[in-house]
Amino acid sequence: MKKIIVTGALGQIGSELTVKLRDIYGEDNVLATDIRKPEDICGPFELLDVTDAKKMYELSKDFEADTMIHMAALLSATAEKNPLFAWNLNMGGLMNALEVSRELDLQFFTPSSIGAFGPSTPKDNTPQDTLQRPTTMYGVNKVAGELLCDYYFNRFGVDTRGVRFPGLISYATPPGGGTTDYAVDIYYKAVEQGRYTSYIAEGTYMDMMYMPDALQAIVNLMEADGSKLKHRNAFNISAMSFEPSQIAAEIKKHIPSFKMDYTVDPVRQAIADSWPNAIDSSAAVEEWGFKADFDLEKMTIDMLEKLKVKLNQKAIS
Ligand code: SER
Repeated sequence: MKKIIVTGALGQIGSELTVKLRDIYGEDNVLATDIRKPEDICGPFELLDVTDAKKMYELSKDFEADTMIHMAALLSATAEKNPLFAWNLNMGGLMNALEVSRELDLQFFTPSSIGAFGPSTPKDNTPQDTLQRPTTMYGVNKVAGELLCDYYFNRFGVDTRGVRFPGLISYATPPGGGTTDYAVDIYYKAVEQGRYTSYIAEGTYMDMMYMPDALQAIVNLMEADGSKLKHRNAFNISAMSFEPSQIAAEIKKHIPSFKMDYTVDPVRQAIADSWPNAIDSSAAVEEWGFKADFDLEKMTIDMLEKLKVKLNQKAIS
């Protein structure tokens, strides 16, 4: 990775990934693109709707990119509200990004998700290679995307790589329209109001990861020796698995008066119920040395500290 174009650079992952890539590879070597303009422009930025193949090609060529990091996509709950739009954006954008990578010989990264699994997938210690019959449009997009990335590697030799991300938690950019978002909202509400109403039911386990570990995983996978990768795309990676009462208990250690109740959202609950409880990351560990530094305890300390500063509030205790 020397000259990198990032799509969806203002999104949940893209906004922090762009900063990290610029720290490592140099500000002028990372072109951030998104469908909307950033509030403050620093570093190279271009407007790009990922369904516009011609503009994506021209921007990549003019920038002399050698790497495409394709992040632009709709998350699970939003995709469920508008499945046709999700198909057109998620699949149209991915096809354009893969084609540009083929034409310009770019190394390629795009994330898949725990959403690529479905109710018939083994729920615990979910294997790297297993049944994938997702019941959401997001999941259908992710499975098709995993297959397309494998296809572009096998058929055209494009150096495609990817991971299945779990729910990602960060104090920087809030997620939008995901099922795992509760695990971010809960920290904001804990600091701001000392209480939280969870839309996910008690006992619903999902995989999660703190954003710094997710960003490092992208860099490590892209820098890994390609000859050692047996899977290339869609590596299971997870840092922790918890259910709402466990994250609440962890927050309570720091904010003793914190209270949580539940008003379950049937749409997002059904999505969560169709996903694994905890996936097995061992292929990623073996093939490119994946590791996560943050568990629930360490992440909670960092999230609360950073949010108190960000939200300019003293802890409710
Ligand atoms: N965080 C994503 C979502 O909830 C999962 O990939 O949609």
